[in-house]
Amino acid sequence: MKDFAGKVAFITGGASGAGLGQAKVFSEAGMRVVIADIRQDHLDEAMAYFRGKKAEVHAIKLDLTDRKAYAAAADEVERVYGTPPQLLINTAGVNTFGPAEASTFEDYDWVMGVCLGGVINGMVTFVPRMIKAGRGGHFATTSSWGGFRGGASTAPYSAAKAAVNNLMESYFLSLKPYGIGVSVLCPVGINSNIHEATFTRPKHLQNTGYNVNPETLEFEHRIYMQGIDPVELARILKKGIENDVFYVLPFADPEKMLRDNFERVVNWATPEGMKRQEEADRKRREEMRKRSGDSGPFSGAADVGWGKARADLAWVDETARAKKK
Ligand SMILES: NC(=O)c1ccc[n+]([C@@H]2O[C@H](COP(=O)([O-])OP(=O)(O)OC[C@H]3O[C@@H](n4cnc5c(N)ncnc54)[C@H](O)[C@@H]3O)[C@@H](O)[C@H]2O)c1
Repeated sequence: MKDFAGKVAFITGGASGAGLGQAKVFSEAGMRVVIADIRQDHLDEAMAYFRGKKAEVHAIKLDLTDRKAYAAAADEVERVYGTPPQLLINTAGVNTFGPAEASTFEDYDWVMGVCLGGVINGMVTFVPRMIKAGRGGHFATTSSWGGFRGGASTAPYSAAKAAVNNLMESYFLSLKPYGIGVSVLCPVGINSNIHEATFTRPKHLQNTGYNVNPETLEFEHRIYMQGIDPVELARILKKGIENDVFYVLPFADPEKMLRDNFERVVNWATPEGMKRQEEADRKRREEMRKRSGDSGPFSGAADVGWGKARADLAWVDETARAKKK
């Protein structure tokens, strides 16, 4: 997709962080933009920003895990703009961190429900509409570098993002004959409000196995503040869409990052490789320690208890976990 002017974009999570950056960049490119978000305060703030700009932006309050509401939002787009979107960007997402072994069903249901289920709902809702409209288009999903690897403290999130990468690959292959493009954006850190995700966690999914409190959220906030600027990230995504690139990786040397990552996958397939990888990981940790000592981005995590289990889960052995790192 190369021409954006006059076309319609539907951006989930479009009222904050990465999604808001995308709304800014694609409206500057002349698109009519729908921002869909569960948080009314985020929608209000975003609309206050767009008011006064020439941008044509329409806000819809939507919990994208609610399929009926999603279909109603899609109908609303057609009512307002007279066409289904030519660009869907699945960006809404949530996260929460703690030992995989402490994860509850509710941790999985919430994170995977939004990060994977929300993308599925977007695709099932909009793919037939876009094909029927016959005007081509593009689907993009904001995934994460976390989708390329598991993490001892990121199980639901990494699993959701890995599934999303795979899901979008299937759509990439199936939508090609229709002249519809597909991309997945996989950043590491974004300067966003995702540390507030827990505020949108539904009542019936509150039971968590993780240590989540104002201190851990503030710690997370400090980490995310060092991430990429959402507008810069959106410009990289736009270029990826223009060039019909599937994996859009906002790094200086994405090929090297991917090769290193897949070397791990290859290594983990044989006993000799397992040893090679252990040695490589040890060296990498040593180099990181030399480079940043105790002042790396995650320094202070232990002090605030970030990434730990809920206090009453006494069977989670945090000492063993620390040794493993
Ligand atoms: N922040 C990071 O470091 C980072 C890194 C890699 C990938 N990502 C991904 O980027 C995407 C955007 O996150 P962000 O960092 O900009 O966070 P953000 O919190 O600033 O924005 C996400 C938006 O999604 C909305 N949202 C959450 N649940 C929703 C639901 N059920 N229905 C509709 N909207 C919902 C939130 O209200 C919020 O406005 C996510 O998919 C996230 O996983 C973030």
